[in-house]
Amino acid sequence: MGHMWKTIFAIAFFFGKGIANECEPYRVDDVVIACVCNSTYCDGPSDDEPKVPKEGSSFWYVTNKNGLRMHKSEVNFGSCDGSPADATITVDSSKQYQTILGFGGGFTDSFGIDLSKLSPAAQEQLIRAYYDPKKGSGYTLGRIPCASTDFSTRFYTYDDVVNDTSLKHFALAEDDYKYKMPYARKALELNKETLFFSAAWTPPAWMKTNNKISGKGYLKKEHYQTYANYLVKFMDEYKKHGIDMWAISTGNEPLNAFAFNLPLISMGWTPKMMADWIANYLGPTLSSSAHNKTMVLAFDDNRHVLPWFVEPTLENRASSKYVVGTAVHWYQDFLAPAYLLDRTHNEFPDKIIIMTEASIIDPVWNTSKVKDESWSRGEKYILSIIEYMNHWAVGWVDWNLALDVSGGPTWQKDYLDSAIVINADEDVFYKQPMYYAIHHISRFVGRGSARISVTGDTSAVESTAFLTPSGEVVVVLYNKDTVPKHVILNDLQNGPLCFELSPLSMNTLKYK
Ligand SMILES: *[C@@H]1O[C@H](CO)[C@@H](O)[C@H](O)[C@H]1NC(C)=O
Ligand SMILES: *[C@@H]1O[C@H](CO)[C@@H](O)[C@H](O)[C@H]1NC(C)=O
Ligand SMILES: *[C@@H]1O[C@H](CO)[C@@H](O)[C@H](O)[C@H]1NC(C)=O
Ligand SMILES: *[C@@H]1O[C@H](CO)[C@@H](O)[C@H](O)[C@H]1NC(C)=O
Repeated sequence: MGHMWKTIFAIAFFFGKGIANECEPYRVDDVVIACVCNSTYCDGPSDDEPKVPKEGSSFWYVTNKNGLRMHKSEVNFGSCDGSPADATITVDSSKQYQTILGFGGGFTDSFGIDLSKLSPAAQEQLIRAYYDPKKGSGYTLGRIPCASTDFSTRFYTYDDVVNDTSLKHFALAEDDYKYKMPYARKALELNKETLFFSAAWTPPAWMKTNNKISGKGYLKKEHYQTYANYLVKFMDEYKKHGIDMWAISTGNEPLNAFAFNLPLISMGWTPKMMADWIANYLGPTLSSSAHNKTMVLAFDDNRHVLPWFVEPTLENRASSKYVVGTAVHWYQDFLAPAYLLDRTHNEFPDKIIIMTEASIIDPVWNTSKVKDESWSRGEKYILSIIEYMNHWAVGWVDWNLALDVSGGPTWQKDYLDSAIVINADEDVFYKQPMYYAIHHISRFVGRGSARISVTGDTSAVESTAFLTPSGEVVVVLYNKDTVPKHVILNDLQNGPLCFELSPLSMNTLKYK
């Protein structure tokens, strides 16, 4: 009798919670490499999923190499005496660090071009998968390039008429109207908290010392003001179409200009030039424009030269007053230990650090490598996010929100992988493990959350933890090992939780 009641109760509870959409797996051999979404279906939580579990228990979401995707269960606080422990992790929400700004991705021309080939309903599903705060990843950041990047179908700037110093010929491109603005506006509609920020890859070639779009070229001194005007004009046009920029960077990857024979579009800065341009040109131009609230993000490049590269900018009030913080990319993190972020934070504790571009070179979709690499790429993403969070970053922003099955289009032919891959022929898109890696944190850690103390005694389990503005604790754990790990999580305010992490698994625990 008692057993029957339990069963009825369990069923009622199950329906009461609503049924989540399960992953529609895409398998290569027996391995789940992605979840397939289309115009009518995408995996995600049910509409009425409770926000927090009942007192004394924690939600537990798992994505693993073995095929689980955001698999949800509950685990109860209680005694862990006698539980095996491969790892003991201590969470202390009374010790707080940086405040989180958010997570997001890049609205590139290529993303928009690929997205536009899906049916409107499938387009909506894809943007929801990222920006919907309930059904999706709850993204609140979007990076919008100013003019073309390598993820465009051709090179252009907004004023390629040589010596047009009055910017009489300034005009946005068709790509802005067709492939960037509508999708950015859709993201904003889904999540009003979304903040956009921009970066130009280069000014028009005629503003540069080498008159070229790549190679070792600086901004010509006579065009320091012209370029500031150019960026403000760009923001004027976006503002007219409902898209305000929260910040603009000093330009994408200035160090590319010094790399031998690298054809990537960029303009070089020395640390002193960058500080001078912000203090005397970009900063004053912004503050006397309609974008007087728009902040400058300094640097926007790989972290190996930090904090040195931003010192002239951030040490001097004339430039630092316009600068919200330092933007970094992940591409040479293997050369540059995370303590460089700590040093940058310790030297300039009032300035944020934000990771503004990550991606993986060489797409593997529809190749023999996809089976082996799709998980390890997701692992790279989650380990990077955990590392950046534990070293003061307030946000982590992916590069192209999606690309096609070949990793393009890209006029420079530097094809990339992306968290979501679009197959327009079949009107579907594929959410790879990289998508879930970001989702495991971004869906739970909203703007204003504080990173809190988490300490552990194992190198196999990486961890980071947060306290949200509504008082929920979110703990993210990655088991790097190919064997299960018994964990005792000791929350100093809530008591112990014990559970077993599956091999190669991403885990989010959430409790109040
Ligand atoms: C979308 O995917 C779902 C789940 O796989 C399937 O049942 C449905 O028929 C698909 N819809 C279309 C339009 O292909
Ligand atoms: C543009 O201006 C530069 C510097 O004043 C000058 O050397 C160059 O000849 C001009 N180019 C054209 C096409 O007018
Ligand atoms: C900032 O710009 C807005 C809109 O143009 C204007 O109304 C406001 O007065 C400006 N604020 C300052 C401090 O200049
Ligand atoms: C996979 O790649 C081959 C060769 O490039 C191409 O012909 C085929 O259409 C691709 N299939 C899919 C599903 O993208």
